[in-house]
Amino acid sequence: MEVIIQPDAQAASALAAQRIATVIRQKPSATLGLATGSSPLALYAELIRMHREEDLDFQHVTTFNLDEYLGLSPSHPSSYNAFMWENLFRHINVNPARVFVPSGKVDYCDLGKYCARYEEEIRKAGGIDLQVLGIGGNGHIGFNEPGSSLASRTRIKTLAPQTVEDNRRYFDAHHAVPLHVITMGIGTILEAGELCLLGFGEKKAQAAAAAVEGPLSAFVPASALQLHRKASVYLDEPAAAHL
Ligand code: GLP
Repeated sequence: MEVIIQPDAQAASALAAQRIATVIRQKPSATLGLATGSSPLALYAELIRMHREEDLDFQHVTTFNLDEYLGLSPSHPSSYNAFMWENLFRHINVNPARVFVPSGKVDYCDLGKYCARYEEEIRKAGGIDLQVLGIGGNGHIGFNEPGSSLASRTRIKTLAPQTVEDNRRYFDAHHAVPLHVITMGIGTILEAGELCLLGFGEKKAQAAAAAVEGPLSAFVPASALQLHRKASVYLDEPAAAHL
């Protein structure tokens, strides 16, 4: 595992964006796994700048998002689908037919089949070349909460109370944070060719240290990166404080 520590999130995100740009330039039809939350925002802003100023071409790129809240339609302002269009997709020349975000509106009875199909789409796309990840304050990746099997696949999960609290800021007062989600599994994530985890701010320091230096444990899902042969962890100084 490579740990890259920069003074701030901006500098760390710029390095991660350079890595992604290199992957896309080497393979214009690359498949990216994408994440939501505040952690990848500076990375997405840098990719948008590279698209505008340096001709970074997303036309043939395929994307798969990690997760989505169950019960939210793709157009719901707090859905991860809406987040991705707002913060990345609408600013770049991605082909909407190559954009995959799990649907939050799957009938409960069809969920098993739906999750298997999402995995099948990833396989059909040739697998994920590079997966972007944030890290939850409790060490989660995607929505794989502590206790998730390290071999887990795309499935429904129930959010931990801390995650519900942490993510309340993305919902207005009239909308409760959904308690159930669809998420790629840790096993799914580990199959990507390369992992790129972003962690910024002192709130992430404990989780980042446990992921990088602690024992491999299902109770710190991000520690699964220790199993991957090509994982990079981009931290700012406050997030690296406990290393
Ligand atoms: C959410 C997402 C994760 C993300 C995490 C951290 O729960 N499902 O993919 O990594 O939050 O969020 P933030 O980057 O906003 O701290």
